[in-house]
Amino acid sequence: MRKQKKVSESYVIMTELVLPNDTNTLHNLMGGKMMHWMDIVSAIAAQKHSNRIVVTASVDNVSFAESIKLGNVVTLEAKVTRAFSSSMEVHIVVYAEDIPSGKKVMSNQAFFTFVAVDQSGKAIDVPEAVPETEEEIRLYDGALRRRQLRLVLAGRMKPSEANELRSIFDLKEDQE
Ligand SMILES: CC(C)(COP(=O)(O)OP(=O)(O)OC[C@H]1O[C@@H](n2cnc3c(N)ncnc32)[C@H](O)[C@@H]1OP(=O)(O)O)[C@@H](O)C(=O)NCCC(=O)NCCS
Repeated sequence: MRKQKKVSESYVIMTELVLPNDTNTLHNLMGGKMMHWMDIVSAIAAQKHSNRIVVTASVDNVSFAESIKLGNVVTLEAKVTRAFSSSMEVHIVVYAEDIPSGKKVMSNQAFFTFVAVDQSGKAIDVPEAVPETEEEIRLYDGALRRRQLRLVLAGRMKPSEANELRSIFDLKEDQE
């Protein structure tokens, strides 16, 4: 039987201070720096789940609704939502805090996908992820739909094979 691990076992929290070198000329955190931190925190979550070397396979849409200022404290929280065969979807939530004013906002969230690989870079199976809380179950349930969407967009799955997305692509049951 395939090994199982709780979603909570993959939980990672990472805290960073926005320094001058991380910002653009408006003193806002650069998007690329944020993506770098998101990649690291989510890779650690995927490693904790799989106990393997992992590689980033895909990054879902990331939008930057609020600017994060020089001197803010950025907190990134990540955990695996669901594991498939060798791939794992990781949910990342980012908060920005201005400690002097006591203001803390959720700045953005995203899903990254990692694949566990062996020393030669070949994909290998990972344990199943078991959700426990209401939120973990909600994210677990949505993961199959998101996986199919990203595989269709990457040209790795035909829309006709994406059963969870039939309504989006407006396909009938027997349509190829
Ligand atoms: C990701 C990678 C290991 C997949 O290798 P592959 O030979 O295509 O392997 P497979 O076709 O067997 O797929 C393995 C898994 O990757 C998943 N995968 C591949 N491409 C994907 C994509 N674009 N989005 C999401 N998942 C993807 C597959 O769905 C499969 O998942 P599953 O085992 O859970 O079903 C390989 O493409 C790779 O090493 N890419 C480079 C990774 C890297 O360097 N990342 C850093 C970028 S700078």
